[in-house]
Amino acid sequence: MSDAHILIAREAGVLELRFNRPEKKNAITNAMYGAMADAIFAADGDAEVRAILFTATGDFFTAGNDIADFAATSGGAIAGAPRHVGRFLEACIRAEKPLIAAVQGHAVGVGVTMLFQCDLVYVAETARLTTPFIDLGLVPENASSITMPALMGHTRAFAMLGLGEPLLGRDAVAFGVANAALPAAEVETRARAAAIALAQKPAEALRLTKKLMRSPDTLMARMQQEGAIFADRLQSDEARDAFAAFLSRR
Ligand code: COA
Repeated sequence: MSDAHILIAREAGVLELRFNRPEKKNAITNAMYGAMADAIFAADGDAEVRAILFTATGDFFTAGNDIADFAATSGGAIAGAPRHVGRFLEACIRAEKPLIAAVQGHAVGVGVTMLFQCDLVYVAETARLTTPFIDLGLVPENASSITMPALMGHTRAFAMLGLGEPLLGRDAVAFGVANAALPAAEVETRARAAAIALAQKPAEALRLTKKLMRSPDTLMARMQQEGAIFADRLQSDEARDAFAAFLSRR
């Protein structure tokens, strides 16, 4: 499937997936998840794709899951419709090709947890990364209950998840989350250069190296465990109140 809010381009062996919904801070809809999942799964069998680059238009990388979508799921309005978020998370966890992220602006929720599935991450010094799951009545997803403490240590991960403290771009390298923190205007160029450099490496050696370094089955098992609790929480009064508060702000 394709979606106008995800721009897909290929150049120099790099498949680029660009969040392109700046008027909604690149909040991710079901259709956007579907388009990205299809592209990432297809890349595994496509010898022409050697690396996958996530980029974004505007001042936000992404504000995370579309909250109107969350509210519709919570209210049962879209019960029975195919949900693509799980396919997207699985595609990132299982991706055989390296994933590179260019985080030129703020990121929220899944826009942050997806970075922990990436192999190289470049952020703007001015970026602000937040994971406000608890404030929404929710729990961490995308195996971030494993990946966050593994990358930054339990107490720093708990400050983000428990207190909702932001991780500032300029601190992201010290937290083990990013390879470099750069002026916003340089982030995409630097990330693309890294993706192109990876695309020129011996492909099979690169694939095997990534495979040795990652444990997708462990992450998938945790992602499914979190997902069951998350789905339950979507139906909770805490979550419904939080979605309604956001959607009726004005
Ligand atoms: N889902 C749906 N719409 C969203 C959104 C989201 N996650 N994030 C932003 N938007 C929409 C806003 O509703 C607004 O739409 P409108 O112009 O039609 O009213 C538009 O994007 C611009 O957002 P706005 O809130 O005016 O920008 P801001 O710079 O003041 O604040 C955020 C940006 C991201 C801090 C704020 O929008 C926010 O907190 N969003 C929710 C983030 C979130 O909790 N995501 C889920 C994580 S699990």
